[in-house]
Amino acid sequence: MRIGVLTAGGDCPGLNAVIRSVVHRAVTNYGDEVIGFEDGYAGLLEGRYRALDLDAVSGILARGGTILGSSRLQRDRLREACDNAQDMAREFGIDALIPIGGEGTLTAARMLSDAGLPVVGVPKTIDNDISSTDRTFGFDTAVGVATEAMDRLKTTAESHQRVMVVEVMGRHAGWIALESGMAAGAHGICLPERAFDPADLVKMVEERFARGKRFAVLCVAEGAHPAEGSMDYGHGEIDQFGHERFQGIGTALAYELERRLGKEAKPVILGHIQRGGTPTAYDRVLATRFGWHAVEAAHQGEFGRMTALRGTDVVMVPLAEAVTELKTVPKDRMDEAESVF
Ligand code: F6P
Repeated sequence: MRIGVLTAGGDCPGLNAVIRSVVHRAVTNYGDEVIGFEDGYAGLLEGRYRALDLDAVSGILARGGTILGSSRLQRDRLREACDNAQDMAREFGIDALIPIGGEGTLTAARMLSDAGLPVVGVPKTIDNDISSTDRTFGFDTAVGVATEAMDRLKTTAESHQRVMVVEVMGRHAGWIALESGMAAGAHGICLPERAFDPADLVKMVEERFARGKRFAVLCVAEGAHPAEGSMDYGHGEIDQFGHERFQGIGTALAYELERRLGKEAKPVILGHIQRGGTPTAYDRVLATRFGWHAVEAAHQGEFGRMTALRGTDVVMVPLAEAVTELKTVPKDRMDEAESVF
């Protein structure tokens, strides 16, 4: 069998672990040939690929990013790919394509599968917002990075009696904010799923200082938004990939709190640091298991499906199921974290 693999969308710690696992399982167990398309679907469309043998994936398990490069796919190029799906499979001689990616990549994978390409998807995203899998690799790493950042910020905040507003990733789903906020003991957590009122945060901070505490740390998802009329905050434009550009809730909220509290409030935007660097052991293991199961699925002819974690098992689910709805933080998970506003 000849298997093509690609990584698309925003990168994520663990992508290299999947690539390595695909190559190991395919080459060692089945004697397959594996090729890697460069820069996501762009490489597929432009015929840019390279052979991936055991040497090519040696030493990449712990490496962040993706050795294949990644890019987001523009909609008109996706249509072009769908129109030529079967020709592309013939041209590259691939019997299976394994795209590794998030919601956008899996939607494209489903469309390519419907257009006749033999596709087995592997989900990834630090956001953990793909509904048909309990976890995506990359999330554990991002939560660890954000937690460590808040642990560190607490000590400097206390020295200077400051409020730290830490903005983490998560446009529509606040999983990173929820779990890193809980792990770090953040005094306030703001999520995209529930509008917050800055007046509640002001009250919480004032009560802390009245109890003799000398600092506060708030963890805010980039997609969190204030309740209508509670604070000036504009929504952003939509970029060429259909994603909303956020205006910087961390900075806006820090400014607002400083103004209302008369205390120093500093925004800290963690940004892409959450996506860079080496994956945690958990993410390496999950990524490796997904790669292994993707190759098995290709050999079983289970196309149009993707790997998913259910409990502790890796199962195959239809791509159609994967991209129907976003997995957002449910109310009961918010209730467990006392500091969700
Ligand atoms: O979907 C993953 C993610 O990291 C989001 O958390 C974040 O909003 C977005 O990608 C950032 O995208 P980009 O790297 O294109 O700025």
